[in-house]
Amino acid sequence: MTVALIPGSFDPFHNGHLEVVERATRLFDEVIVAALRNPQKSQPLFDLEERQEMLQESMAHLPSVRIVSVSTLLVNVARDVGASAIVKGLRAVSDFESEMQMAQMNRHLSGVETLFLPTSSSHSFIASKLLREVARYGGDVSAFVPKAVNDRLRDKFTPGAENLGPESL
Ligand code: PNS
Repeated sequence: MTVALIPGSFDPFHNGHLEVVERATRLFDEVIVAALRNPQKSQPLFDLEERQEMLQESMAHLPSVRIVSVSTLLVNVARDVGASAIVKGLRAVSDFESEMQMAQMNRHLSGVETLFLPTSSSHSFIASKLLREVARYGGDVSAFVPKAVNDRLRDKFTPGAENLGPESL
C-alpha cells in the first residue's frame, strides 16, 4: 500500500493545497494531510485544532484522505504513518529553494523521499499569507478557499471579533 504524506502549515488551507491533495489521491492508495507548526513562521492565525477541523470539512469528499495535526518533526510523522513519500506542491521557482532544503534535510534525517507536484497556473499565485491579509481587510477570498475556510475567515475578521491585531496577519 502506498501512502503519501502532505505536510503544511495550512494557515489557512486553500484551493492550491486542495489541488495537490486531490492529485495525490490519484497516485497513492492513502493520503495523510498533516497540519504542523512551522517554527520559521510567527504566531499562527488558526490554532492546530481549528486547522484540523477546516481540513476535515474541506476534504470530506475524499475517502482516501486522513488528517492529522501534530507538533513534532515531520520525519516522525512520516515514520509513524509509514509514508512512502512526502508530497509537496511547487508554485514557482521562489518555492524551490526552501522546499529543496527541507527535502534534503528530511532525507538525511530519515531516508524519506520528497516528491514535488507543480501546481496549476490558476493556483500558482495563491498563498496563505496573502489570503490572511486580504481577508483581514474585508476582501473576498471565497474563490481561493474551500467554504469551510471562507466561513472561518469571515468569523475571525468580523468587525468586533478578536484577533484583529497586526500579529494575526
Ligand atoms: O506550509 P509550510 O509552512 O511551507 O510547511 C512547512 C512545514 C510545516 C512542512 C515545515 O515547517 C515542517 O516540516 N515543520 C515540522 C517541523 C520539522 O520537521 N522541521 C524540519 C523541517 S526540515
